[in-house]
Amino acid sequence: MPLDVVIGAQWGDEGKGRIVDRLAASADVVARVAGGDNAGHTIHAGGRVLRLHLIPSGILHPHTLCLLGACMVVSLETLVEEIRALQAQGIEIGPARLKLSHAAHLLTPAHRALDAAQEGARGGGEIGTTRRGIGPAYADKAARRGLRAESMSDPQAFARQVEDHTRQAGEWLSAVYHTQAPDPGQAGAAFGEYAEFLRPYLADVGALTGRSLAEGKTVLAEGAQGTLLDLDHGTYPFVTASTPTLAGALAGLGVGATHLRRVVGVAKSFQTRVGAGPFPTELFGQEAQRLRGTGTQAWDEFGTTTGRPRRCGWLDLVLLRYADRINGFTELALTKLDVLAGLEMIPVCAAYELDGRLQTTIDEGLTALDAAQPVYEAQAGWDPSVREARHWDDLPRAAREYIERIENTTGTPVALISVGAERQALVERGVAA
Ligand code: GDP
Ligand code: IMO
Ligand code: MG
Repeated sequence: MPLDVVIGAQWGDEGKGRIVDRLAASADVVARVAGGDNAGHTIHAGGRVLRLHLIPSGILHPHTLCLLGACMVVSLETLVEEIRALQAQGIEIGPARLKLSHAAHLLTPAHRALDAAQEGARGGGEIGTTRRGIGPAYADKAARRGLRAESMSDPQAFARQVEDHTRQAGEWLSAVYHTQAPDPGQAGAAFGEYAEFLRPYLADVGALTGRSLAEGKTVLAEGAQGTLLDLDHGTYPFVTASTPTLAGALAGLGVGATHLRRVVGVAKSFQTRVGAGPFPTELFGQEAQRLRGTGTQAWDEFGTTTGRPRRCGWLDLVLLRYADRINGFTELALTKLDVLAGLEMIPVCAAYELDGRLQTTIDEGLTALDAAQPVYEAQAGWDPSVREARHWDDLPRAAREYIERIENTTGTPVALISVGAERQALVERGVAA
């Protein structure tokens, strides 16, 4: 009855989708657990590029049951569109294969309008949200006035509920932000139709997960966003509104920690961030562009959801240790190692200089990052491409040393090394468990 969890160890976009796609080959159940369509997970498989926002990245493996967990906020438009787009590509997906937690919260056009209005009103202090309505949907959930997926079991009553919700949000939008609100009648009617379509997908995801584990099946939880965007432990207020850590995964699944086998922290070989907030190792100009790419390759650093160029910098080992502490990773999956090939030397941030002291851990909360000066160590670079590497020994010595530097600092083995965007471009070194 093993439960494996994949968690973003940085600020999102670490390559979780690509790692989940690999691990799903030997899983029976794959579940998204938290967040919403602020997530964009990319999979390159057999010449096909799939960008998923809500549906788990296990969907490409036809044997998997796919779940949307209790701590998600789900945009019904996106979900219906995503189901139809996958069906159009010949992927078998329907109520027998995809289940939506009755406890998940729903995200509406009014939430998106509020997100945009609130960002606009921050005047220079924007979070840089994806404007998908994530914050307002979770705010409604916490205020106990949210729309839960279970309400869709009565589409007509649900349509009225959405109409009321849209009207109330509209009053707020016009009074506080002087913005026009979505039309309540239209929203109600559209959501009534979504409910008719999605009603058969509703399920008790916790019960399904528990039963699967009891039957000895392998359950794989796919985290979205990343640890440093966590509402409690991230770089507040420049965070998302959910819990993208291991704790959030368990809450989203509705099962306990006793089932855990692997907790895989996905980290990019360098570091990226979309949106505002501290980033001690951030690079600018040519150096940043070297890591970002120019947008000519599918994997260049431009947001999957918003298309925004991602901020880029060197790997920060202080923050990786922080993420490791919060999640208790059993192993790391390192992605985009191929992008570093050709650099003469690769700086890694091994410590911060903070208040005149050298620190290898951050013990005063992430607000301190504003004043943290990265202290770099130079790792030797390597020239040859690593894209064809499939075994540890295929990697150049300097690349192996780079990985060993990460292992020595975190005390956590790097079990998977991604050397390209394609499904098979992976070095697997076995697992801790
Ligand atoms: P996620 O949100 O964590 O699933 O990550 P995204 O899919 O948003 O962003 C990661 C990007 O990196 C995607 O374009 C992936 O196709 C790409 N990618 C993942 N692993 C690798 C890798 O090892 N090498 C290269 N070149 N691209 C990768
Ligand atoms: P995946 O799952 C990268 C960031 C936004 C913004 C902050 C708050 O693809 O890794 P929100 O819309 O959630 O209120 O925005 O969080 N953010 C992400 N950054 N990858 C993501 O998801 C993200 N989801 C949210 O850019 O800084
Ligand atoms: Mg992403």
